[in-house]
Amino acid sequence: MRILIAGNWKMNTSLSEAVNLVKEMLSGLDEVTGVDKVICPPFISLAAIKEIIRGSSVKLGAQNVYFEEKGAYTGEISPLMLSGLCEFVIVGHSERRQYFKENGELVNKKIRAALKAGLKPILCVGEQLAENEAGQTEAVITRQLKSALENIAYNSELVIAYEPVWAIGTGRAATSEQANNIIGLIRNNMAKLYNKESAEQVRILYGGSVTAANATELIQKPEIDGALVGGASLKANDFISIVKQASAITQT
Ligand code: 13P
Repeated sequence: MRILIAGNWKMNTSLSEAVNLVKEMLSGLDEVTGVDKVICPPFISLAAIKEIIRGSSVKLGAQNVYFEEKGAYTGEISPLMLSGLCEFVIVGHSERRQYFKENGELVNKKIRAALKAGLKPILCVGEQLAENEAGQTEAVITRQLKSALENIAYNSELVIAYEPVWAIGTGRAATSEQANNIIGLIRNNMAKLYNKESAEQVRILYGGSVTAANATELIQKPEIDGALVGGASLKANDFISIVKQASAITQT
């Protein structure tokens, strides 16, 4: 499976900061082979960054999308607007679920619309701390996957990211064993929702306090096909290091 490393810049960087950051990391990322490298800056920087990375191996993603194609939805960005601009889109990030009340039904509509527009969704799932402590992780993940993918035919462009909420931005990553186990469980769910082939083929990333210091340990686990990186993707050297580590794993 080809490893995918995606950087989610979240609500950070002005246009000029984003341009500078991508210029700082571009050649370092571009020279790494065998790994898919995706950066997901804020919407306002997508067009400028698209031009800067043109001709390189670095790919672009958005952090969110609405499900309607166009119309009176003030402030929203449609899949059609993104389809000429970027290749990937993050859908159902826990911050969107938590702060913007996105539920399974909305996430489902967004995945459906993204795929229809030819975008590659990175569907995020993950349990909160209280759910984890109550032993509900498996139930939460199963429910989130089922609702997000309900009545959607399997599409090989779909990427899933397991992001336990308690590990995001806390500096407390899941252990590689924990992440590997839950991602295995996500794969079992995909086999039930679709079939064995889809479950084996779908790329499932881990996200939550991935750094240059723990990337190899996490990504080398058999079920983990890459990483969705937040904070460390805003530091050029750290993000390049994570991508290089992924490439080294690919070559072993
Ligand atoms: P951190 O890497 O900052 O914990 O964020 C993870 C994340 O939410 C990526 O989408």
